[in-house]
Amino acid sequence: MTQRILLTGGAGYIGSHTYVALVEAGYDVTILDNFQNANRSVIARLEDLTGQPVTLAEADVRDATTLASLFAEHVFDAVVHFAALKAVGESVERPLDYFDVNISGLINLLRVMDAAGCRKIVFSSSATVYGVPDETPTPETAEFRAMNPYGQTKISGEQILNQLVAADDRWQIGILRYFNPAGAHESHLIGEDPRDTPNNLMPFIAKVAAGEVEELEVFGDDYDTQDGTGVRDYIHVDDLARGHVLSVAALLEDGQSHLVNLGTGEGHSVMEMIAAYKRASNRDIPHRVVDRRAGDVPIYVAKADKAEEVLGFRTEKTLDEMCASSWAWITGPHSQEDPDGEDNT
Ligand code: UFG
Repeated sequence: MTQRILLTGGAGYIGSHTYVALVEAGYDVTILDNFQNANRSVIARLEDLTGQPVTLAEADVRDATTLASLFAEHVFDAVVHFAALKAVGESVERPLDYFDVNISGLINLLRVMDAAGCRKIVFSSSATVYGVPDETPTPETAEFRAMNPYGQTKISGEQILNQLVAADDRWQIGILRYFNPAGAHESHLIGEDPRDTPNNLMPFIAKVAAGEVEELEVFGDDYDTQDGTGVRDYIHVDDLARGHVLSVAALLEDGQSHLVNLGTGEGHSVMEMIAAYKRASNRDIPHRVVDRRAGDVPIYVAKADKAEEVLGFRTEKTLDEMCASSWAWITGPHSQEDPDGEDNT
């Protein structure tokens, strides 16, 4: 029988790519999204891409009544939980919103799942839980260090899930710590939409390459890295999406809880990213070195072997493919089509 998955935040950047990967893997997927940070036109594009209608519940993950009626209507075998706020700077200004959506939202979801007898969940965590790590590449055993309220919500989310499993062994959880997702689906129908001035490096470089923003500010060139600029482990969003399919399959087939980094194991500096994007776009990327950004970490690179051992996960796409897919998405017809000015990250 086809297994049914609830995908919260399924219209967002990583959520939409994971939707496609889950449908391609044969799952029956329901999206729950409140479109606060997602573009409604994504749904029609997901239908184009998969050739089937999307089952959609438009609701907030804190809305217990709607969630309960959704679980009464469908028997879900597992939940993949993306719905959350994710901007570090905003979390410093509005911590209560972050605790409310990311922590209360998770607890609300878990309560409804428990009542419905669905006790398998894949949780979106982040490399941010490592703060400034002592070790690079960073293994899953590195300690938790909250750098800001956003990071705190990811640490708390993981702890809540671990304590739930400890209290009731009917729960099985997959915790996936993402490094830096980038790129867009090969169809160029979905991607990260940097309509507003983006905070993250890749969408910002894309805007500069497209001539929409004059220059990129490079936040510091005096870190202890190959060229002094910040180093990150950029993972193609399609690889990341595949990691979720493997995590769901591990929960459903083996009933094995797991905690893994999802990254490539390789780091690239800001300067290397500029060079790669230049190759992909054949455009100039004017840039200027400015002061370090407050709260930035010099290096995040995943120790990636546990995901391979536990899930059989290995990244397949190269940095050049990542940049080329981003450029094709940005210059394609769909990346800025929503007149509401919402973005779909
Ligand atoms: N950077 C610039 N200029 C910019 C933007 C970024 O030089 O305009 C640099 C940063 O200083 C950093 C690198 O590019 O060295 C990557 O920065 P991002 O903002 O793209 O990503 P971060 O690693 O800082 O943060 C992202 C997410 C977090 C998550 C973290 C985990 O935004 O939510 O990855 O690795 F926690």
